[in-house]
Amino acid sequence: MKLLIKNIKNLVQVEENPRIKVAGTDMKTLPCIEDAWLAIEEDKIIDFGKMEDFPGIVDWSGLQVIDATGKLVFPSWCDSHSHIVFAASREQEFVDRINGLTYQEIAKRGGGILNSVKKLREVSEEELIESALKRLNEVMMQGTGAIEIKSGYGLSVEAELKMLRVIKKLKTLSPLTIKATFLGAHAVPTEYKDRKQDYISLIINEMLPQIAEEKLADYCDVFCENGYFTAEETIQILTAAKGFGLTPKVHAEQLSNSGGVKAGVKVGAISVDHLEYLNDEDIAALKSSETMPTILPGAQFFLQEPFPPARKMIDSGLPLAIASDYNPGSSPSGNMNFMVSLACIQYKMTPEEAINAATINSAYSMGLSKTHGSIAIGKQANIFITKEISSYSFLPYSFSNNSIETVIINGQIINA
Ligand code: NIG
Ligand code: FE
Repeated sequence: MKLLIKNIKNLVQVEENPRIKVAGTDMKTLPCIEDAWLAIEEDKIIDFGKMEDFPGIVDWSGLQVIDATGKLVFPSWCDSHSHIVFAASREQEFVDRINGLTYQEIAKRGGGILNSVKKLREVSEEELIESALKRLNEVMMQGTGAIEIKSGYGLSVEAELKMLRVIKKLKTLSPLTIKATFLGAHAVPTEYKDRKQDYISLIINEMLPQIAEEKLADYCDVFCENGYFTAEETIQILTAAKGFGLTPKVHAEQLSNSGGVKAGVKVGAISVDHLEYLNDEDIAALKSSETMPTILPGAQFFLQEPFPPARKMIDSGLPLAIASDYNPGSSPSGNMNFMVSLACIQYKMTPEEAINAATINSAYSMGLSKTHGSIAIGKQANIFITKEISSYSFLPYSFSNNSIETVIINGQIINA
C-alpha cells in the first residue's frame, strides 16, 4: 500500500542523515520542513520534501492521499520504560499517600511492588494479555509507536517466565514495536525476605538461563535503591545478564542516591532511568559513557519526588531521554504527550529538547535508533498527524488536551 500525506503544515523531526542520539545544545534544534509532503510504502517511510518541490505522481493506482492542511506530522513517541503488564490497579495506595504515608512505608507494609506481585501470580496469561493489550491500544492512540515492557511483578521463576511470555505474545498481537526487559530484581519477594543473596542466585542461576534459552528478553534491569538492590548487587546481576546476551538497564537514583548510575555506567547500561537524586559525580560518570540518561516525569510527578536535574544534564552536554514508566504504583499513565508537557513545565526543558528526548533519544534507550524516533527514509512508518494546531510548541503547552487526530503504525491508519 502507498500513502501520501500532502500539505503538511510542519513535518517535525525530519532527518536527511539520521543520528543515533542528540546531546547538549544540539537538543535545542528540532529539524522540520514547513509545507511538506511525506510518502509511505508498505510499512516504511520512502520519501518526503517541500510541497513546492513535489515531484508529482506517475502511478496513482492504489494510492491513498491524506490532506494535512493546517496539521503537523510527528514521528511516533518511543516509550523506552514501561511496566504495562500488570494484574490490577493500586488506587488504595494512592489514597494512603494522600493521607500521609510514603511510597517506602507502603512498600514496608507489603504494599507497593509486592502488592502487584501477589495479584499477578493469581491471574492467567490470557487475562494479562487482554488487559495489557487494552493499555497498549490506549497509548498507541496517544501517539506511542514503540514501547519497552518490563517483567518484575512475578519474582519467582514461574511468574517471571509467565510475564515474559505474555510480553512475547504482545509482540505478535500488537502492531506496536515492543522490546522486552527482564526485571527479576525489582524487589525481594516475601519468600526470600532476609535471604536476598539466595534470591539473587535464583535470578542468576535459574531465571536468566531459561530466559536466554527461550529468547524472552532483550534487556535486563535492576531496581537499585535502598531497601531493594545495592549498587554491588546491581553490578553482580547485570554482569551475569550480559553473559546471557541481555543488555543492562538500571532503575537509578529514584528515591535516594544509591549508586545506580555509576553501576549502570560500569556495566555499559544502554540507559539509566529515573534520576531524581542524580548528583554531579553521576553527571561526570555519564559524560564518559554511551549510557542514555532517561527521565520518567510521570513517576516523579505522581510520587512528588524532587525534579531530576534535567537542565543541568543537558547544559553539561549530556543527551536526555523521556519515557512514561507506565505502572500501577508510581505512574498510572502512559501518555507521552503529558510526559513531554511535564518536562517542559516542571524541568524547564524547551519543546525542542523534550521532543528530541521523547523521539530520537528514547529510541536509543530501547535500541531502536536505526528504525524509529525520526522521519527518515527507510525508517518505520510510525507517525501521528495532529489536529489543526499553530505550532509544535502547542503540543506540550496544551497539556492534557489531545492534539492528535490520526495515528499511523507500520504504514496503516489506526482506527480507535
Ligand atoms: O519505576 N521503581 C521501581 N519500579 C517502578 C514502580 C513499580 C511499582 O510501584 O509497582 C517505577 O517507579
Ligand atoms: Fe520503572
